[in-house]
Amino acid sequence: MGKLWGGRFTQSTDTFTDHFHSSIGFDSRMYEEDITGSMAHATMLGKQDIIPKADADLIVKTLGEILTDIKDGKISFDEKAEDIHMNIETILISRIGDVGKKLHTGRSRNDQVALDTRMYTKKEILFLQNLIKELVATLNHLAEQHTETILPGYTHLQRAQPVTLAHHLLAYIEMFKRDYDRLSDAYKRTNVLPLGSGALATTTYPLDRSFVAEQLGFAGICANSIDGVSDRDFCVEVISDLSILMMHLSRFCEEIILWSSHEFHFIELSDAYSTGSSIMPQKKNPDMAELIRGKTGRVYGHLMGILTVLKGLPLAYNKDMQEDKESLFDAIDTVKMCLPVFTAMLATMTVKKESMENAAKGGFTNATDAADWLVKQGVPFRDAHGIIGRLVLYCIAHNTNLDDLSLEEYQAISPVFNESIYDAISVKKCVEARNVFGGPSPSMTKAAIAANKDFLKQQ
Ligand code: ARG
Repeated sequence: MGKLWGGRFTQSTDTFTDHFHSSIGFDSRMYEEDITGSMAHATMLGKQDIIPKADADLIVKTLGEILTDIKDGKISFDEKAEDIHMNIETILISRIGDVGKKLHTGRSRNDQVALDTRMYTKKEILFLQNLIKELVATLNHLAEQHTETILPGYTHLQRAQPVTLAHHLLAYIEMFKRDYDRLSDAYKRTNVLPLGSGALATTTYPLDRSFVAEQLGFAGICANSIDGVSDRDFCVEVISDLSILMMHLSRFCEEIILWSSHEFHFIELSDAYSTGSSIMPQKKNPDMAELIRGKTGRVYGHLMGILTVLKGLPLAYNKDMQEDKESLFDAIDTVKMCLPVFTAMLATMTVKKESMENAAKGGFTNATDAADWLVKQGVPFRDAHGIIGRLVLYCIAHNTNLDDLSLEEYQAISPVFNESIYDAISVKKCVEARNVFGGPSPSMTKAAIAANKDFLKQQ
């Protein structure tokens, strides 16, 4: 069969041209959206008497059969038919002849591809949000088991103050909840119907766009037809949201990699989510975490890619925009692979509570608390800071720590010290005393865990 647009051409396209500009290799995954969109369009054409009702019914019925055949693997697409839109239309025409040729009345591939891409993106956003919920649920469950598991909190990757594992995990939960919200927001702007924009200037047929929007579950209709066919903001937004999500996963992976090193020894990953070395028999590598960290670069690349594709485009549709899909699809596919692996890796890791707590006890993580104790005895904070600083120096010189100094040693530096300093600087106390909203105390983290459960229920 010749090209559907072949009328004004006298020569056929070069085989290489067919191969070069064909998108069927990657847009065939939108076959269901394309068919569902066409069914709604045909139904509307019949309802509006733009084509006979019986023709619309036959088109809808045949499209349904084509959908089943594709799902059953009975159809192979043709590169010469360019893209998923023309492949399906070609198949339709091959089955019902002239009636099939009426489907494209009042429609352009420009509004059709915008429609399919939006429908596909909406579906995938919901899927991704479910994966995020599963991750949040897993982390929240883990946090619940570790409201009293103490580990050092770090700044500059130097031990800073003691926190709990729950508190640390809850920090990531906040990030993933924002990722979830960002996708909900992107969904709102994706959920607008472009069909009816035509090539760029709508059409002379009396289309009922509201009817199509309702049939396809769109909350609104693109208000300007030129924008309707040119807008790919929703693709940029989703890839951007996914880039931020990957950044969060990547930061977490970095910690998992550090924590599972011999030097930290805070966790051990399950064998199911680790790999060995082909030469070093002792190795157990956190490859999953490393790959997720690596794939973050790939998703960022897609964000730069799509932004660059769009930056110089005049209105309205330009073929450059066909380049939107591979970035979008690969970004989505990548996150869809990373999230479940990451969730399972976290759910199955072993936490080495004792190592964490020992690390929290070293490195003077309780120095701020010792200074705060002095403040509570009436010493101004700056002086207290200086006194504890000198004590830390003394400890380093004598290879000891604040908990093990004798009262005489304390008092040699400041007479204010008494026995109660020891209790105030135990790491457990340090954590419990940080009972400010958003802090690491068990009662605060338990409240945060409860709030996360509400978040999960509300979605
Ligand atoms: N395959 C094309 C794309 O993905 C469909 C739209 C083609 N429109 C056109 N006027 N050539 O963008």
